[in-house]
Amino acid sequence: MISLLCLVVLVVLVVVVVHSLSSRRRRHVQPGGAILITGCDSGFGHHLAGSLERRGFVVFAGCLYPDGAGAQSLSAQSSGKLNILKLDVTKDEDVKRAKAVVQENLPEKGLWAVVNNVGISDWAEIEWSSIEDFQRMVDINLFGAIRTSIAFLPLVRAAKGRMVYVSSIFSFFNCLNMAAYSVSKRGLEAFADCLRVEMDSFDVKVSIIQPGNFGQATSILKMKTGLDMWKKLDDERKQTFNQQYMQLASDYFMSTCRAGFKDATPVIDAMLHALTSTQPKRRYLLVSKTDMFFFRLYPFLPTILTDSMFHLSSMYAKRKEMLYTQ
Ligand SMILES: NC(=O)c1ccc[n+]([C@@H]2O[C@H](COP(=O)([O-])OP(=O)(O)OC[C@H]3O[C@@H](n4cnc5c(N)ncnc54)[C@H](OP(=O)(O)O)[C@@H]3O)[C@@H](O)[C@H]2O)c1
Repeated sequence: MISLLCLVVLVVLVVVVVHSLSSRRRRHVQPGGAILITGCDSGFGHHLAGSLERRGFVVFAGCLYPDGAGAQSLSAQSSGKLNILKLDVTKDEDVKRAKAVVQENLPEKGLWAVVNNVGISDWAEIEWSSIEDFQRMVDINLFGAIRTSIAFLPLVRAAKGRMVYVSSIFSFFNCLNMAAYSVSKRGLEAFADCLRVEMDSFDVKVSIIQPGNFGQATSILKMKTGLDMWKKLDDERKQTFNQQYMQLASDYFMSTCRAGFKDATPVIDAMLHALTSTQPKRRYLLVSKTDMFFFRLYPFLPTILTDSMFHLSSMYAKRKEMLYTQ
């Protein structure tokens, strides 16, 4: 009698384990397909490329400098499934050549996903910037992703795969000094949102990654001083903006960046979820636990309220005091 009971318990246990293993398998995409990532020389793209190869995907790692240190370290650590491609996303000929290489080297499962990761960042008030500053930002962050998407979508569609876009909290969070970056990321999200609607009929899923402050975890931060920006101003702007304030703004910006995440893992985990879960999210917001409530609420607040938040900032008050003074 006892041995019969043991047998029943054993069978139930086996059924539960097999069921949970198979449903776990169903929640994750089986590797074997290929994934193209742009901007793998450093930062999120670099980390993601290694993680995906270790999980069994064939990786096409787009690099701005295929002979540079970032690309070379990816090659050195590769187990043979990672291919470095020269891919400057602002260049039609690079995208065309990269597509030909990908097509020639596709595994049987085809191109499962494209991660549009490339991005540059800069900061400056609108009147400290030139039209060329805006154009460069949009050319890389927005048109680079659009150019890459249009080229590779037929391959991803054939695999009923994934398109992933690396945006930022600045796509929706309005802030001093971030206009050019925000323009590029808001545009990127508009593109990704429209694409998701169009791709739904083809079973292609589109996800947007919205990292907060990970400036210490990647190479995105480029150093510049108040003096660097001051030198770019014309005489009219020099009458309006104060050089000391520009240095203060620079110090404030750098200290804010130093307070960010030092580890890219939360972003890489979100990217992996978007690529491998059978139920990827439309958006992944990656900010600290304390900031999460604020950033979730912010897009729903009326503009009058979000604008008035600036008046609570001591830097904003200092800026107003220092305008027009030399
Ligand atoms: N780190 C953060 O705090 C943060 C927050 C929100 C969103 N993001 C987004 O995350 C994405 C990845 O950035 P990251 O932080 O990992 O920065 P990163 O370390 O600078 O990585 C971006 C890579 O893209 C490369 N790149 C620049 N222009 C390119 C082009 N035209 N074609 C191909 N590659 C190009 C960069 O090369 P160079 O270094 O030579 O320019 C760099 O290696 C970006 O879209 C960024 O906007 C980052």
